[in-house]
Amino acid sequence: MSFKNKLVLITGASSGIGRETAIEFAKLGANLILVARRKDKLKQTEDELKKYNVSISACQCDVSKKDQVKEMSETVLEKFSSVDILVNNAGFAIYGSVSDLSISDIESQMETNYFGMVYCIKNFLPSMLKKKSGHIVNVASVAASFGLPGIASYCASKFAMMGFSEGLKHELKDTGIGITVVSPIMVRTNFFDHPSFEKMPKYSPTSLDPKTVAKTILKAANSSRLEIVVPSVIRGAIWMKSTFPFFINPILGKSFKKQLDSTKQN
Ligand SMILES: NC(=O)c1ccc[n+]([C@@H]2O[C@H](COP(=O)([O-])OP(=O)(O)OC[C@H]3O[C@@H](n4cnc5c(N)ncnc54)[C@H](OP(=O)(O)O)[C@@H]3O)[C@@H](O)[C@H]2O)c1
Repeated sequence: MSFKNKLVLITGASSGIGRETAIEFAKLGANLILVARRKDKLKQTEDELKKYNVSISACQCDVSKKDQVKEMSETVLEKFSSVDILVNNAGFAIYGSVSDLSISDIESQMETNYFGMVYCIKNFLPSMLKKKSGHIVNVASVAASFGLPGIASYCASKFAMMGFSEGLKHELKDTGIGITVVSPIMVRTNFFDHPSFEKMPKYSPTSLDPKTVAKTILKAANSSRLEIVVPSVIRGAIWMKSTFPFFINPILGKSFKKQLDSTKQN
């Protein structure tokens, strides 16, 4: 599929991966709807995209609030009747052990990362089904394949996204609509600015540039695959974990638990 004149809606377009994804789509002539909560940051993305001469609409919306997503989608669908590509990218994490996090900390991650995606799909899928075309790209994480100490509730939200996407993919067979999950390792974005990550090393030498993930999201929008892991070599680790969990889980668990314990001591 050529992206020229296609309509792409990206949640979490005010920063990081979402912002870079908007730039990559704009370079190829796609028209964009940018969704996030911070109006000033959305405006910055919008200004950056002006040079590509594509149509851009910015919508302030908290995807964790179903009424706001309904209102945003009604505004979009009134104007455009359908979107061609829906990128569910808005998300965040709160670092900490399950015993230290509050119930609302845990709920809030599920509300944005999982239900935010569900609300967007529920509101935009009917128009895609009517048109018999479209592609949904869900931005998960390698945390959709590994349950890790310190980010258990974040992992749960991404496991949920993965399960929902896999089930929905079967349901969408022969409808003309595709769905693909993009699962990156650590990425250099503002994701780790959340105060709970204060005592953690921000990035590792293997952390990805958000542009790399953005390019994968464009690839995903044209893909028949269920999941694209970035970088692809991590597929091997996922295979190892599911094939030899008794071997891999203790190694991973020990290393992440050590990090969690060290943040509690400092
Ligand atoms: N960075 C990583 O290491 C990494 C690794 C794997 C997967 N991911 C995933 O990649 C996605 C993008 O994260 P990022 O790394 O680009 O982080 P980021 O720079 O912090 O961007 C997160 C984006 O999500 C938006 N957002 C958060 N909560 C929202 C809400 N309730 N409603 C609407 N928008 C919301 C933020 O905008 P506003 O604050 O303006 O609303 C922002 O635009 C997330 O789903 C994350 O889980 C990140």
